[in-house]
Amino acid sequence: MKVSVSPGHNINGTLILPLFEGSDALPEAHETGLHTALKAQINRILQDGDFKGKMKSTMSILGGEGGKAMLVGLGKEDAADAHSYRKAGAAVVASRKKVHGTDLTVVFNGTSIDAMGAFAEGMLLRDYSYDHYKQQDEEDKESELDVRITCDEGQEDELNSVIKIHAGVASGVHLSRDLGNCPPNDMYPEAFADQAWEWAKQYDDVEVTIINYEQAVKAGMGGLVAVGMGSARKPCMVIFQLNGKKSGRCPLLVGKGITFDTGGISLKPGANMDEMKYDMGGSATVFGTMQALASTGHKGKVVAITCMAENMPSSNAQRPGDVIKTLSGKTIEILNTDAEGRLVLSDGLWKAGEFDPEYIIDFATLTGACVVALGHEATGLWSNDDDFRTRIHEAGNAVDELAWPMPLLPAFEKEMTNSKIADTRNLGAGRYGGANTAAAFLKQFVPNRNYEKDGEQITWAHMDIAGTYWGAKTNSMVGNGATGIHVRTMYHLITNG
Ligand code: BES
Ligand code: ZN
Ligand code: ZN
Repeated sequence: MKVSVSPGHNINGTLILPLFEGSDALPEAHETGLHTALKAQINRILQDGDFKGKMKSTMSILGGEGGKAMLVGLGKEDAADAHSYRKAGAAVVASRKKVHGTDLTVVFNGTSIDAMGAFAEGMLLRDYSYDHYKQQDEEDKESELDVRITCDEGQEDELNSVIKIHAGVASGVHLSRDLGNCPPNDMYPEAFADQAWEWAKQYDDVEVTIINYEQAVKAGMGGLVAVGMGSARKPCMVIFQLNGKKSGRCPLLVGKGITFDTGGISLKPGANMDEMKYDMGGSATVFGTMQALASTGHKGKVVAITCMAENMPSSNAQRPGDVIKTLSGKTIEILNTDAEGRLVLSDGLWKAGEFDPEYIIDFATLTGACVVALGHEATGLWSNDDDFRTRIHEAGNAVDELAWPMPLLPAFEKEMTNSKIADTRNLGAGRYGGANTAAAFLKQFVPNRNYEKDGEQITWAHMDIAGTYWGAKTNSMVGNGATGIHVRTMYHLITNG
């Protein structure tokens, strides 16, 4: 999608007219340059109450010689905020089949830069489909939308730069979706690493380091190795650094990257197992965030670590009953090989300490229990620092990607350390509170500053995106499949201090 900005009303192609709920006539300013026939037609529709302006509603109008238009609802005027404009923009693209043509002019008058930017953002985010694997005739392919946004005189420069940023961030969201939607025969640990390597070449200030299987074994990454060794496609760790040479503490993101989760020897049931290709959603989130930051020219230092493995059953696979030794030195009794995300993350979190980060946030499609608790509405959010958890919650709210506070209780941690033969175990004692026991398990692998034995633990948050990374029923920014959630939350958190 191409988006440009133009002050004044040089109207071409299909007009997109955003309207508040209950409008009974077009705002006067909107009428400038509009063909009389089209104007009359739209005003009749509004007077008759045929278009109510409800949030996300659209109506397409073929005005004969007057031209073509689409009305789009913004909801109630007194409740209008960036969210309403973003949703309305997305609604236009979602009803693309009803939009006539690809040449669109969105008409705004006296609207704030933020609101117009949010409308463009919604259009950009929703303008995504995953059809790389479909044979398609050229003429069946949807051609690129060419969108012009008309604004007031003097707004164009600022609006242009706001839209540029939204486009960069949307490219990060789309990258995250592409990675999550990619079938698991093509998206495996090494493929992810290769893609990261190739991607980094376009940016001078980005560096990607790959720790391959042999190096991971040598380094003692027992969690990553144990999960990945059952597959012919070996595990690896990918480290991304943006402005890595800068000094000082920086944000550090860690992602679970299970490119396919069969459960391993504790095999999952067959129903919907295909969806476990998105078990690398955490790694996609952090890769997408790096793209959002790099493409918008973020000047700060940011590091990301992704823990890539395929969880397969085989004669080389780990077994329930095994005891493994992680990078931290801690041993884990494996009681269920399907609780593998926490194993790879134990090494990723411990490795994070080497960068002396300001804070660590991990992203993981970690537990079905989190989906039971929060459905697809909100990501589960845990932290060892209440203020930090609130900051992430608020960053999520600001961009309409909800992350809900969940408890990190000592009792859950105790439950996870109750192993007869190892320091800790990878399964809770009962079946309840599974998202919380998983979070408590991870906390044991968050290092203290400089790995000092009695030092202070690095500020850390864990985000369980099992219910929010996939399935678009509650996310109006995407049609289906991977949602790409939290790239925008992270962009907001990192760039707003
Ligand atoms: N990848 C799954 C979690 C998951 C479930 C993600 C549904 C997305 C949708 C994870 O590795 C897993 O299997 N977790 C187990 C943990 C259990 C064995 C303690 C689960 O949630 O059942
Ligand atoms: Zn699993
Ligand atoms: Zn998993």
